[in-house]
Amino acid sequence: MLVHGPIEVTFDDGRRVTSDRAVTALCTCRLSRRYPFCDTSHRRRLANQPPARSPVPVIQTDGMLSTSRPQPVTKAVLPQARGPLSTAVVATLRGDTAAPGTTEIGAVDIEHADPYGDDLQLALHCCYELHYRGFAGALDDPVADDLEWNAGLLGLRQRMEQVFLAALRSDVPGGTDVTTEINTLLAEVGDASGVSHYLRRVGQLWELREYIAHRSIYHLKEADPQAWVIPRLSGPAKAALVTVEHDEYGAGDPQRMHAHLFADMMTELGLSSRYGAYLDAAPAATLAEVNFMSLCGLHRQLRGALVGQFATVELTSSPGSDRLVQAMHRLDCSSASIRFYAEHIEADAVHEQLVRRGVIAPLLAAEPELAGDIVFGIQASTLLADRFSDLLLSRWDTGQTTLRTAL
Ligand SMILES: [Fe+2]
Ligand SMILES: [Fe+2]
Repeated sequence: MLVHGPIEVTFDDGRRVTSDRAVTALCTCRLSRRYPFCDTSHRRRLANQPPARSPVPVIQTDGMLSTSRPQPVTKAVLPQARGPLSTAVVATLRGDTAAPGTTEIGAVDIEHADPYGDDLQLALHCCYELHYRGFAGALDDPVADDLEWNAGLLGLRQRMEQVFLAALRSDVPGGTDVTTEINTLLAEVGDASGVSHYLRRVGQLWELREYIAHRSIYHLKEADPQAWVIPRLSGPAKAALVTVEHDEYGAGDPQRMHAHLFADMMTELGLSSRYGAYLDAAPAATLAEVNFMSLCGLHRQLRGALVGQFATVELTSSPGSDRLVQAMHRLDCSSASIRFYAEHIEADAVHEQLVRRGVIAPLLAAEPELAGDIVFGIQASTLLADRFSDLLLSRWDTGQTTLRTAL
């Protein structure tokens, strides 16, 4: 029997044993020689010698029993193209490159593409999605799985990444002072003007729902882009990052996965929690934030930038989540719908410390030359978050939808 969390087991005679494992396996067949802990003695024995059974203990625990409910693996539906780059990518994914108006993927002109524009960001997003769950076709026929390593798509992706990265590098100040960047992230400005501040003060329900639809592009695969950095780290930085990721993935309980909590919130608020449901509605600014995570996660060379991106999210999320909880209380949202952000107030207070002291400090000690990339990751994430925030606030200011298609 698996029990989550540290536990204390009390025997009839008052004797106590404890386990501080994240998950403990308790023996229920009473064959274990390490009773009350399982030592796999329940396995079928070839020699017919039944070992003596141990006495039954009283188990006192606040831990949670393991349960699991199968989750459907859902793929995103291929989106509508938004220009020549995304037309070439979507046509390749659909296996329909002969369609009129489609340029062969190797010949697509990328020189004049807007690095932050809809066409490039959607095309990039589609290329990256192949490394997550992939796409279903227009008629629910799956896009061939071997396209994940299609040379044409990878080649175009690389060219788009170069354009995107060049723009980001020229639009941020750069530097190597990680401490100053982190201190800036940790400073809370009283009457700041970000989206969570706006929603807390005056946001309406339709605006909150729009915000959550945007965020679903990331949160329905929350923590996945950062998981790619695990094999690119080593030692204490790796152990601490995995500790954060373990928490993001529900610490062994699928119902507590942050992506799952987000999906529950969407359902509570009358939004579709289907993976990729709002891809067509998501503007470039929304896609660019997620694309930056995928880009850094998929390039070992950008592991410092990925850690900087991760730090930006984890260091700013707790107070932002608190403001969103206040917004949802003000808007009379159900307690079930508030759970995702309420969880992040506490979880990210822990993650903040783990990322700063457990990941960044030992990573910099081992590889000081990554300081510039960590700073770049923080600055680029902040720039993209500001662009997203500016879009939402300017549209809401005039009562307009922030999505490409209103909910
Ligand atoms: Fe999370
Ligand atoms: Fe977190």
